[in-house]
Amino acid sequence: MPETIRIKVNGVAVDVPEHTNVAAAVTRAGHVHFRRSVTGQPRGPLCGMGICFECRVTIDGQPHRRSCQVLCRPGMEIQTDDA
Ligand code: FES
Repeated sequence: MPETIRIKVNGVAVDVPEHTNVAAAVTRAGHVHFRRSVTGQPRGPLCGMGICFECRVTIDGQPHRRSCQVLCRPGMEIQTDDA
């Protein structure tokens, strides 16, 4: 049975099973829009395999991380542009 880890999404604590990727965790936290395009349109995960770059978020202060390519770690802080 997987362990649960606690992360923060836009400052709100979220518990997710270990080995959850950040895109899934952000979605689990209720966010559909992860960032905004240069014209201000909402964007979210599309390909789920690291190609489209639509799922970018800030992770532990590092902007433009592809959330579908990063596994959650305990204490991780994730920020979307939709906050
Ligand atoms: S969903 Fe396409 S790069 Fe993450």
